[in-house]
Order: sequence, then C-alpha cells, then structure tokens
Amino acid sequence: MIRCVSCGAEYDDDEVIYTCEKCGSVLELVSDIDVSKDIFDGRRDTLWKFKECIPVDESKIVSLDEGGTPFCKCDKLGDELGVNLYVKVEGSNPTGSFKDRGMTVGMTKAMELGVSTVGCASTGNTSASLAAYAARAGLRCIVFLPSGKVALGKLAQAMFHGAEVMSINGNFDEALEAMTALALEKHLYLLNSINPYRLEGQKTIGYEILRDLGWQSPDRIILPVGNAGNISAIWKGVSEFYNAGFVKDLPMMTGIQAEGACPVTNAFKKGERRVVPVENPETIATAIRIGAPVSDIKALNAIYDSNGYSETVTDEEILDAQKLLARTEGIGVEPASAASIAGLKKLVDQGVIDKGETITCVVTGHLLKDPNTAIDACTKPTEVDADIDTLRKLLMNK
Ligand code: F0G
Repeated sequence: MIRCVSCGAEYDDDEVIYTCEKCGSVLELVSDIDVSKDIFDGRRDTLWKFKECIPVDESKIVSLDEGGTPFCKCDKLGDELGVNLYVKVEGSNPTGSFKDRGMTVGMTKAMELGVSTVGCASTGNTSASLAAYAARAGLRCIVFLPSGKVALGKLAQAMFHGAEVMSINGNFDEALEAMTALALEKHLYLLNSINPYRLEGQKTIGYEILRDLGWQSPDRIILPVGNAGNISAIWKGVSEFYNAGFVKDLPMMTGIQAEGACPVTNAFKKGERRVVPVENPETIATAIRIGAPVSDIKALNAIYDSNGYSETVTDEEILDAQKLLARTEGIGVEPASAASIAGLKKLVDQGVIDKGETITCVVTGHLLKDPNTAIDACTKPTEVDADIDTLRKLLMNK
C-alpha cells in the first residue's frame, strides 16, 4: 500500500502516483516485516538479500548487484575526533553512488508496470544510475541536467549508457519541475526520489548499517542532504528493523547541508516542518546544489523523530574533509559525500556530538565522479625525465 505521509490517504501499490491527490504531500510505501532476521544469513550480500522487505515483484528484478557496500571502521580519524567512527562507502555501488539502491527497486517497479520510458532530473548521480539501469532493462531513458553544473564523471556515465541527455538552462529545482510536469502528462515514468519506490531501495543503507554493527544501532548516522530523499529512506529502514525487533535502539539522524544550499538546516534551526526554498543554491558540492528539496517533510520528520540534528558546512570545510578522509583513511569520495565528515568534525567541535559516540558517516558517491575538483585540490605532478640521478635527487630533497 502507498500512503500519504501528511494526510494518511491510501493508494494501491500499482498506481502510478508521485504525490498525494488529496493534499499534494509526499507518499511512502507501507510494509510490514514479518520474517526473522536469520533468513538474511548466508545470502549473497546485495540489497536483494532483504527481498522480503522490498515491496516489488521478485520475478521482475533489474539488478547490477548493488548494496552490500563496505563498512569501514576508521580508527585514525575517529581517534582524532574522539568518536567510534564507521564509514559506509556507497561509492562502491555499481555506478559509484547510493542511487543504484533506489534505481534497482525503481526500475523493477517500472518493469512491473510495463512502462517503456523512464526519466529523471539530476545533479548527476541519479542520471548516471538511471541510464545504466535503463540500459539493463532495455527502456528508453531521458535525463535533464542543470547546464554546466554536473561533475564530469557523472555526465560521462549518463551519456555513455545511452540516455537522452538534455542540458537544461536552469538549476536542478527547475529541471525537476519540468521533468515532473512531463511525468504527470504520462510521457515517462519518473524515477526521482519523489517516487516512493526509490526510497524502498535506499532504506537498505539503514538495514545494512544495523546488520554491519552486529544488529546494533549506532548512536548517530550522519549524511549529506540535498533533495532529502536519502535521509528519509535510511530513517525508514532503521525504523522498520527497530519495529520488527531486530535492534533495541535507533540512531539520531543527522543531516548536513552546504552553506549555500541549506533549506533543511534553516527549517531545523527554526523548528519548522517545511522548508522555505533557497532561491539560488550554490556550492562546490554540485550533487547537493538544491534549493527546494522534495522530501523536506519526510527528512524533517526523521530528524525530529530521531532526536537528530542538522548543520551546514562551508565549501572549504567540505574540501578539507574530502582530503582528510582520502589521506587519513584511504577512502575517496566526491565533495557532497565529504559533507558528512565535515559535519561530524563541526558537531564534535560544537559539542553537539559527545565524545565516545558510535557514529556512522554515509559517504554517498565515489571520488572519481568529480575528477576536476579532485585535481584542482592537489599540486600538479612534477614533470621530469626518466633519469635516475635526477629522480633520486628529487626524492631525497623531499
Ligand atoms: N550525495 C550525493 C553524492 C548525491 O548525488 C546526492 C543527491 C546526495 C548526496 C543527496 O541525497 O538528494 O537524497 O538528499 N543527488 C541527486 C542526484 C539529487 O540527482 O544525483 P538526497
């Protein structure tokens, strides 16, 4: 069953519907978990090991073996900050971001519904993922990208997997509005995170974190927030497993935004349950360059209900954290993902995070998604002939 998160109106699972017909709010799938957690044991470690908890037709699954991502204990960085730190590395998914979790489920639903065309607006990763899954499913794929604001790796993926790419003169919010209008006219099946099936895939990040910790909850999960789907999804996942009795505690959901694109943090600081859109969002972390998040209600509910928090970080803090994670722990992430680490650092400094807390930072996309920003943050390699004497001198002088 699909249910409106605001007015509770109910819709059939097979209705192609993105927002509530009665009140216009966002929708979610309601599913009961009536299995024992032992049945997950011994299955291959993809997100489909949780198939009983994902409300789609198993015979239609379109998968690239997403999920089951690394869960790295980061003692060097954790010790430096005085916390017990784990990093969930979502860049290890097939197309290099967490979007693949949402897309495997969303594309499976698309096959169930028998659609021929899928589409999304994207800051990059959603389009890369959609393009790959549409190729695997054999469907036509249309993506709208904000012109000039998509990192190179993501653009390459969307184009190379054969999506029809439109470069929109406008930002993500405008591109999404246009794409949604076309979906409502039934030209295509919309696979942005306003589609509740997307979040059914992404909730498995929450499942896996609990499982990875030996069926315990961390004190806190920290992640970057853009369109606000992922924080909502992870909260749904951990809540489902908590309600099923698989764990005894729930984590504080902590959403980090870039200072130039922070409607959710603004709303949180004022105690509001809806955002006031940011007109001209700007940040180097282009993945989260979003001013009007569609899942604001769900995200703010997640933060309040979990006794969580939201904070902003500057572009400089993001770039510093990106480098810190790469050079201290060997984990390469794109700028948006580093917002979680930057946020962790800031909240430890502010005393919002207590010493000794067990924290999971979700890092959402791979370093190689945005090679230009990575190269710009480093000193250029020295150009030199392959002469051993010169090279020896250079090395010794370092
Ligand atoms: N991190 C990365 C790497 C992302 O690509 C996104 C969103 C987020 C974090 C934020 O997640 O939107 O669920 O709050 N990227 C979308 C896209 C908007 O089009 O790829 P969110």
